[in-house]
Amino acid sequence: MTAPPTYNPMDLTGRHILVTGASAGIGRATALVLARLGARLTLNGRDQDRLDRTLAQLPGTEHATAAFDLAELDAVPAWVKGLAQSRGPFNGLAHCGGTQALRPVRSFRAGFFDDVQRTNLGSTLALARGFQQNGCTQKPAAMVFVSSTAGIKSAPGNIVYATSKAGVIAATKGLAIELLATGIRVNCVAPAIVETELIQRVRNALTPEQYEGLVKTQPLGIGDPVDVGHAVAYLLADTGRWITGTTLCVDGGATA
Ligand SMILES: NC(=O)c1ccc[n+]([C@@H]2O[C@H](COP(=O)([O-])OP(=O)(O)OC[C@H]3O[C@@H](n4cnc5c(N)ncnc54)[C@H](OP(=O)(O)O)[C@@H]3O)[C@@H](O)[C@H]2O)c1
Repeated sequence: MTAPPTYNPMDLTGRHILVTGASAGIGRATALVLARLGARLTLNGRDQDRLDRTLAQLPGTEHATAAFDLAELDAVPAWVKGLAQSRGPFNGLAHCGGTQALRPVRSFRAGFFDDVQRTNLGSTLALARGFQQNGCTQKPAAMVFVSSTAGIKSAPGNIVYATSKAGVIAATKGLAIELLATGIRVNCVAPAIVETELIQRVRNALTPEQYEGLVKTQPLGIGDPVDVGHAVAYLLADTGRWITGTTLCVDGGATA
């Protein structure tokens, strides 16, 4: 008897994908999911040791690290071009790199604003510019950005971050249409609270009661980074081929 043919519409065999934020949390979990689906990955973050730790966990031997500070916005397109030339054009981007720091508006400072906006929203636009360049992508091509439910529902005490993530949602819609002619689909995911170092830092800034209050807003509890990784993979793979310009909430029911 012959074995039934395997059916995996999320198969990514042979696809070259750039994963940012791959040195920690959601990016590391996403890298693992994408590699298990067969993708060949280029892993970005700033911390080489932590990138190497991610690399060591991945199945397959064709992955590589590319440490780089994505807040250096003007240098991003040339960096993407160099990677495409040395490692081959990209089929995908999973942009999981980002920063978060709780601050109420009474602590607003220009330096803080610049840092958060450059790292979260600026990097998104600079990477899109990078991918748009000739020779940097091959079909099928898709980009998925990690936004946040903070950009959709109210986020008191977290307004600068929330505006950067709302900006990512707006950028997703605009880029989806601007990049139609290139064949690159553009989507984003909006997670609520997921158990990562980033959330440990948020937790440390709150009282236990405040943190419990936050968690209670998620009917299905706190997310695992891999839950976000699966959603990113779905949008990058052919399962997402008729989807562009959308925001997929991965939030345990928080926005329901
Ligand atoms: N965790 C949550 O509950 C949650 C919820 C909603 C949205 N998000 C979003 O999900 C994304 C990942 O969050 P996480 O929880 O996994 O955070 P994390 O554990 O703090 O990891 C952040 C990642 O971003 C990278 N990064 C930060 N600044 C960078 C820069 N300037 N250049 C290049 N890489 C940079 C870090 O790499 P290095 O340290 O190596 O530079 C690290 O890999 C972020 O965009 C975050 O806003 C998270």
